[in-house]
Amino acid sequence: MATKVTVTGAAGQIGYALLFRIASGQLLGPDTKVELRLLEIEPALKAAEGTALELVDCAFPLLSKIDISSDPNEAFDGAQVALLVGARPRTKGMERADLLEANGAIFKPQGEAINDHADRDIRVLVVGNPANTNALIAMSNARDVPAERFTAMTRLDENRAVAQVANKLAVGVDEVQDLVVWGNHSPTMYPDLFNAKVGGKRAWDVVDDEAWVAGEFIPRVGKRGAEIIEARGASSAASAANAAIDHVRDWMLGADGLRSMAVPTTGAYGVEPGIVGSLPVRLPGGGVYEIAEGLDVPPFSQERIDKTMGELREERDAVVKLGLVS
Ligand code: NAD
Ligand code: LMR
Repeated sequence: MATKVTVTGAAGQIGYALLFRIASGQLLGPDTKVELRLLEIEPALKAAEGTALELVDCAFPLLSKIDISSDPNEAFDGAQVALLVGARPRTKGMERADLLEANGAIFKPQGEAINDHADRDIRVLVVGNPANTNALIAMSNARDVPAERFTAMTRLDENRAVAQVANKLAVGVDEVQDLVVWGNHSPTMYPDLFNAKVGGKRAWDVVDDEAWVAGEFIPRVGKRGAEIIEARGASSAASAANAAIDHVRDWMLGADGLRSMAVPTTGAYGVEPGIVGSLPVRLPGGGVYEIAEGLDVPPFSQERIDKTMGELREERDAVVKLGLVS
């Protein structure tokens, strides 16, 4: 039996970088057939059909079927894995509340459609921005689906942070481990070197340069998305798709060490329950994550974690006010 994977925003840039990798087996492994469900808005259906033609032309042995729809009820029918990529970008003159409201109009009905039509065992990754709060909206509108099935992506931020540390120390990226990003996928995010390791030693000690960590590393990782937009004239696509593959593959198939995932908060680390914040997780496989407790949180980290989680609380309050989350 093929696993039904729904991808929203399938005709977009990330969709184009993502779908071929899913169909080739990089998401769920070399032994799992996939059935793709592509969700797009009406005007982009033709472009999604074009992508589907190309997927067919790859003759991927693991790709058993492709369906395309503009109806969330159809696209999520029986879905076992969902990657929610399509979102409303911020346009000129749009305030944060307008952006949250516009995205609510996407993620509320998608949450409802997941609730009513998806497989009971579904796993959801939200990529479309503002990813954490979009995940909260979808989760809150899928009352019959356990909250922990909804996650948002901070793996790109983790990967970016790993690459920055490896570059600073002139070591391979595989030397850098357990580098967790806390909080919101926004410039307030906190990449944590106190629990990260380089060659088995505490990364904070190996780097040994607080001015670089506070003044360059943390802001650069937080604003890397903007740096990419400035350079490419478009937001990150292949690296975002790559991180989405990393996130779901590790969640489903398991991974060693600590990873960053934005998950519904439970009170761990004193973070108020009821937001979707990035935390350190362990991934034993089978679509399970465990929040890693007992990590070192010195005042340098606490101050930054409080700030980024506080921003998420404000976003939560704004969408509650808009009636998108109860
Ligand atoms: P894009 O504009 O190229 O594509 C988005 C696609 O979504 C479009 O084809 C659009 O038609 C579609 N879409 C819009 N509303 C939809 C709906 N209701 N249902 C289904 N599809 C819908 O954008 P992109 O570059 O692919 O980026 C997608 C999102 O991912 C953006 O919100 C972007 O900011 C975000 N992003 C997140 C991260 C992260 O790390 N979390 C990284 C990069 C980009
Ligand atoms: C990224 O981190 O690359 C994106 O979230 C940036 C964006 O605004 O799309």
